[in-house]
Amino acid sequence: MAEPAHNAQPSSVDGQTRRDFLLYATSAVGVAGTAIALWPFVHSMNPAADTLALSTTDVDISAIKPGQAVTVIWQGRPVFVRHRTPEEITAADQTAIGELRDPQKDADRVKKPEWLILVGSCTHLGCVPLGQKPADPKGEFGGWFCPCHGSHYDTSGRIRKGPAPRNLAVPPYQFTNDTTVRIG
Ligand code: FES
Repeated sequence: MAEPAHNAQPSSVDGQTRRDFLLYATSAVGVAGTAIALWPFVHSMNPAADTLALSTTDVDISAIKPGQAVTVIWQGRPVFVRHRTPEEITAADQTAIGELRDPQKDADRVKKPEWLILVGSCTHLGCVPLGQKPADPKGEFGGWFCPCHGSHYDTSGRIRKGPAPRNLAVPPYQFTNDTTVRIG
């Protein structure tokens, strides 16, 4: 298990600038081992070369409470896993599609309403938006806020304000059982 590390400055990995984020519980299917760190430890992201090569990442979601979020690494990229509250689900579901820059129903972005899974890379220039940690700003729409140039995402990860052109991407994933989601 990697030691927790704090680093307030963005780090650059594989060409992308990323902020610190929480690495929760990942087990990689393939050649690399498992990296687990329990909430609320914060890790700087520095994936090993073998981790970058993995095609799937398994996430134990059993301990993620409503309102909590974790970040895992999938193919060298941060992936946000948020256990949404009923209020967050309602806000996402009731948003008029006509208000959206990148129109997409919330129902088309989730497999289970309570679990929102997104690639944590701003669609403007690729910064990692804030909103994963409890004290993070979540923007004007309660989802994520990218401080690089001020993009606001809602509780479905859809772009609502700022320069980003598209919603946060939904990666391929499946629930392999009640407590595990496989990214990739
Ligand atoms: S990279 Fe996110 S707003 Fe510019």
